Amino acid sequence: MQARPEIADLRPYQPGKPASALRRELGLERIVKLGSNEGPRGPFPAAIEALAAATPGLNRYPEGGAELLERLAARHGLTPERVAPGNGADGVIANLALAYLRPGDEVLMGWPSFVSYRLSAVKMGATPIPVPLRDGSYDLEAMAAAVTSATRIAYVCSPNNPTGGIVSGDDLAAFLDAVPERVLVVIDSAYHEYVTDPAHVDAIAAHAGRSNVVVLRTFSKIYGLAGLRVGYGVAPAAVVAELGKVRGPFDVSEPAQVAAVASLDDEPELVRRRSENQGERRRLEGELGARAVKLYPAAANFVCAEVGDGAALAARLEREGVIVRPLAAFGAPSCVRVTVGLPDENDAFLTALDRSLQPA
Ligand SMILES: Cc1ncc(COP(=O)(O)O)c(C=O)c1O
Repeated sequence: MQARPEIADLRPYQPGKPASALRRELGLERIVKLGSNEGPRGPFPAAIEALAAATPGLNRYPEGGAELLERLAARHGLTPERVAPGNGADGVIANLALAYLRPGDEVLMGWPSFVSYRLSAVKMGATPIPVPLRDGSYDLEAMAAAVTSATRIAYVCSPNNPTGGIVSGDDLAAFLDAVPERVLVVIDSAYHEYVTDPAHVDAIAAHAGRSNVVVLRTFSKIYGLAGLRVGYGVAPAAVVAELGKVRGPFDVSEPAQVAAVASLDDEPELVRRRSENQGERRRLEGELGARAVKLYPAAANFVCAEVGDGAALAARLEREGVIVRPLAAFGAPSCVRVTVGLPDENDAFLTALDRSLQPA
């Protein structure tokens, strides 16, 4: 049975190495997983309580999701018609491709960057147009110059996965002014809550009023809900309506909805996590700098290191029980990406790194 030719050369998404697989392989008690940019702490306490309370009702399909939409809209000072929920931010990216891309359309993105932009475009027969980063951040001048009459979507990932750099508020505003309104600009702010750099703007507050801007957020990172899959886009009501047509039924599960809603009440926990991450990231940056490892400027919960052969170092670290992400699939084979973990996880990474860097 022949599938659509557009997907002939695609390979299934390769997630970071699972900790359980490595535990089995090595027979080690403790595996430190710093490969997938998850928050190192579990769900917020209120989310854990809400999940427990929701469990007996899981024989029912999820309710419509109105509460989550209302709460998110209120948080951003918008109406619920402006919020498009998804099975993770990734689900919203998939829906954007389904709703807006046709064969021959071009999708602009920085590169290296989040692979879903490319994969979702290819699945629809659209053409990904990678624009090289500048110092680990999106080069918005080069992106604006790459817009053609075929450009349909332009992704801006800030902080960028996998390098960690941000675009400044001024550069973002200039880019949005330069790009024609017929191009949907998708600002992926999956790591927004971690950022403390004042050059970074809250793209929802600054730009959600524009008719061609979608801003993505997720509960997978600082909120510790990656396993549940819930994210959202803020977009013009007309775009949200189009995304609604292509969404799968019940694509955000009931546990995901209740956990997300409960998480929104605990601002102090968010602030604690942001500050813990910042302290630990700075410590990691210092320790890696002391070992003469070259790092890209980092603004979120991960660092990207130039190590020569990323796959070889990742394999050596794995043998020490530490999972980091080699970046060949992201277009950066000389790099590894290391998620900021809890203090003892970061210590374990540094110890494993020292052993891995020793001559054999
Ligand atoms: C830049 C970026 N966007 C989106 C996502 C997807 O997030 P979610 O777990 O909400 O699908 C990720 C996940 O790593 C990411 O790094």
